[in-house]
Amino acid sequence: MTRQLLVTSALPYANGPIHLGHLVEYIQTDVFARFQRLRGHRVAYLCADDTHGTAIMIRAQKEGRTPEQLIADMAVQHQRDFAAFGVSFDHYGSTNSPANYAICSGIWSNLRAANMVVERSVERLYDPVQQTFLADRFVIGTCPRCGAADQYGDSCESCGSTYAATELKQPRSVHSGATPELRPSRQLFVRLESLQPFLTEWTQRSGALQQEVANYLAGHFLDKPLQDWDVSRPAPYFGFEIPDAKGQFWYVWFDAPVGYIASTAEWCQRTGQSLDSWWKNERCEIVHFLGKDITYFHTLFWPALLHVGGYRLPSRVQIHGFLRVAGEKMSKSKGTFVTAAKYLEAGLDPEWLRYYYASKLSSKIDDLDFQVDEFTGKVNSDLVGRVVNLASRSARFVESCGLSASYPDDGGLFARAAAQREAIAAAYEACDYRDAMRLVMTLADAANEYVEQKAPWTIKKDPSRARELQDVCTVVLNLFHQIAIYLQPVLPKLAAKAGALLGTGCDRWELVTAPLVGTKVAKFEHMMQRIERDKVQAMFVPEASVPAPTIPAAPTPAARPAAPAAATGETTLQKEPLAAEITIEDFQKVDLRIAEVVAAEAVPEAKKLLRLTLSLGAGQTRNVFAGIKGAYEPEQLVGRLVVMVANLAPRKMKFGLSEGMVIAAGTDGEVFLLSPDAGARPGHRLH
Ligand code: 2FM
Ligand code: ZN
Repeated sequence: MTRQLLVTSALPYANGPIHLGHLVEYIQTDVFARFQRLRGHRVAYLCADDTHGTAIMIRAQKEGRTPEQLIADMAVQHQRDFAAFGVSFDHYGSTNSPANYAICSGIWSNLRAANMVVERSVERLYDPVQQTFLADRFVIGTCPRCGAADQYGDSCESCGSTYAATELKQPRSVHSGATPELRPSRQLFVRLESLQPFLTEWTQRSGALQQEVANYLAGHFLDKPLQDWDVSRPAPYFGFEIPDAKGQFWYVWFDAPVGYIASTAEWCQRTGQSLDSWWKNERCEIVHFLGKDITYFHTLFWPALLHVGGYRLPSRVQIHGFLRVAGEKMSKSKGTFVTAAKYLEAGLDPEWLRYYYASKLSSKIDDLDFQVDEFTGKVNSDLVGRVVNLASRSARFVESCGLSASYPDDGGLFARAAAQREAIAAAYEACDYRDAMRLVMTLADAANEYVEQKAPWTIKKDPSRARELQDVCTVVLNLFHQIAIYLQPVLPKLAAKAGALLGTGCDRWELVTAPLVGTKVAKFEHMMQRIERDKVQAMFVPEASVPAPTIPAAPTPAARPAAPAAATGETTLQKEPLAAEITIEDFQKVDLRIAEVVAAEAVPEAKKLLRLTLSLGAGQTRNVFAGIKGAYEPEQLVGRLVVMVANLAPRKMKFGLSEGMVIAAGTDGEVFLLSPDAGARPGHRLH
């Protein structure tokens, strides 16, 4: 029976680039979606950017642009990265969309009608410099329990205790470094207690959750009355204003999951379908994929909203663990925080990563560890050595004659591989891709044994054995075809190349049961390269010289030295006499980078300043004020490459934060921006 599946990955937050950790989830989901399509089911794979909240608002402010500009830019970057890794969304939306507002409003009015919204005054931390209330994660200070410095406002990474942000010692805002003040705020809460029996039933007995997740919820949340959920945030807030509460906005976690429905609505609109046939249809299976850190939102709040909103509940919530690198948490300073863009820039094939993750993913919540040697070894030995080699060692011999007219005796190899289809399908269905890959590689081993034993390269030497050569290659290429189909959800490009070679598709699961005979074989084209270990290793270079655009330290003299006089955020003009001599070590401290001007505008209040948004590639942007107003029109700079000092301490200016300096030359009254030769790209370091 044809199934109907609506599949989602968690909506990536629009304040940062896609990295290898994100890709665990998108690849895991994409493999599932492609597998279901391959089996002939009806699939909608939907996602969107998660765009609201304080973090986006503050970042946009720092970069001197509107949140809308920031999220538009991130949407392009995210979708470009997903496309490069073969993630096959049917639609990619944004939570900042009219569709999302409309659906949020509908759910909200149902919550009001059910008398589930209450208003209360709460004391919240407020950043007097940024003039914004602070979420727990945006306050850091000293742990009230163990005294560890620089801990977040919700929990201590050192002793593991949790507390209220108001308990932190020496608290400071991560946005401005200022000491937060307590201010009263009227907020709206959703009362969840009345839904406790429903949520207990759904989490414990519907079968939608992994057992360990169900147990975790039972032991940590459902064993006591559920607390009310604080769903509003006071202005200023980048989000949707609540229709019946002026000056109050829905907390980003209210409208984020609703984005799943909104993205479906946009897709339905585009393709002439009804939204209800997906979200209000008992026959449609809704499958969410997400990381363990957001379990709570998707297994308590989200089903509550769906229930009250009259939508169908998820059939399955598939939760995965985190990505670690060489056994440790990903870290920017250690260079193990690798973005999708960096992986691609290193010249690595996205299908290598897809296979590597698939070969390690099980249906459990365990973390997954990226190891360079294992990655290199698996790709080279499994994909190149065991799979692609089947084709490269046989296809050339039948280029001119094609496959035999009838399928030769292969000792039962083809039939045995076909008989594995339900076991492999069951492993994919369970998201136990590790097991699916293991089963497929066992088939590849059997096929390789056959090749070794028959040695077509030896048969080729004897022209009287041409028929035998054709038969042997017919068997090998058919076994290769089966394997390519089984791997298609993981390696769609390789499967397409296999299809092109054999003049057929690898796009239906049942094709594994019917051998190809009497068909042509195309000229063999190279299918997949071996990985060079050094290329993989090169990806993990610490970016010590690029200050991570994260939490500014407290504005103490030690943590944030006053910027040198020349570092006004304006263009440097080299003047006579020459500056004092410096050593090569001094010079090496300056991180000079190629940057692209992605936006430029005059600062009306300043005689000389232009505000530039500079891209350093890989999703990193900087806001820089440059004293070049008289010399350049802003619009002529957009798209131009410049040289910037990327590790200059950020400097707060009257008009905003300046996060670097562009380099120019000239004498008084003249300004010449320095630009690289053709071929240089944003992010390149000068050396
Ligand atoms: O954790 C995150 O990155 C969130 N942006 C995930 C949102 S998933 C859904 F609820 F929107
Ligand atoms: Zn502590």
